[in-house]
Amino acid sequence: MLQVITSIEDIKQRIKTFKENQLSIGFVPTMGALHEGHLSLVRQARKENDKAVVSIFVNPLQFGINEDFTRYPKMFDNDCELLSKEDVDIVFNPKAAEMYPNGFCTSVIMEHLEDKLCGKSRPGHFRGVAAVVLKLFNLVKPDAAYFGQKDFQQTVVIKSMVADLNLDVNIKVLPTIRDKEGLALSSRNAYLSETEKNDALCLYKALIKAQTMANAGAKNAREITAEMEEIINNCKSAKIDYISIVNPETLEAVSEVQHGDVDALAVRIGKTRLIDNIILFFLLAVMWLSSYS
Ligand code: PAF
Repeated sequence: MLQVITSIEDIKQRIKTFKENQLSIGFVPTMGALHEGHLSLVRQARKENDKAVVSIFVNPLQFGINEDFTRYPKMFDNDCELLSKEDVDIVFNPKAAEMYPNGFCTSVIMEHLEDKLCGKSRPGHFRGVAAVVLKLFNLVKPDAAYFGQKDFQQTVVIKSMVADLNLDVNIKVLPTIRDKEGLALSSRNAYLSETEKNDALCLYKALIKAQTMANAGAKNAREITAEMEEIINNCKSAKIDYISIVNPETLEAVSEVQHGDVDALAVRIGKTRLIDNIILFFLLAVMWLSSYS
């Protein structure tokens, strides 16, 4: 049965008993307002581990002053119902004062990774993400933690933190879940009107265009992103924050696209900032690789 835990002392105690009984722990950190994207991570955590733990915590450290911290969607009861159905063991739902008592002053600085892509328009965001994820890892002590590819830069930052600090947790990144028209699922989609939801499809259309061009042999990143810009600029309510094709580990923009580079974008639809990405592949490289496997 799903157990809701709100205090740090209680989560530590519970995790201690799991560890004493040598039970493996799969962990999914979230900010709540759960959708099928989160649930796909939860199902994998459930499948691969003895115990499944989910955190629901809207982390103030990762929001800028003019961002949506206070209005971020909150649906705790509904979230718990969904997690119960997935047979999750624990939902950890601390208050901000529990996580960040007076005097909290530690941050995790991710040099070279936090100032690129989303980090440019959301300064401090990835420090906030890294700090909370590190704290949660220390509390939950998971064997594996599950993240969605949609938050691509977040996955790179977290993998890098885990490697740099020798954390003993296996990071698993699962594919983006989309609605039937291609819109990547996100808790922030709740802010979109029906018209905006339709407009938001331009992100996916632009990514598909990029993949089609790569399949046809295009390698020039500028040419690909120019076509993507055109698709997005055709949509009146859309304002591009960035479109960039980057190396999947360094996040450096590339000029000549290689198999496995990531095409990432952030676009405002009205007042809502959406992100999405696609791992670009070249059909020839896939055929060549599969002939050796
Ligand atoms: O992806 C999210 O929902 C958040 O950034 C995370 C990883 C739960 C940290 O607050």
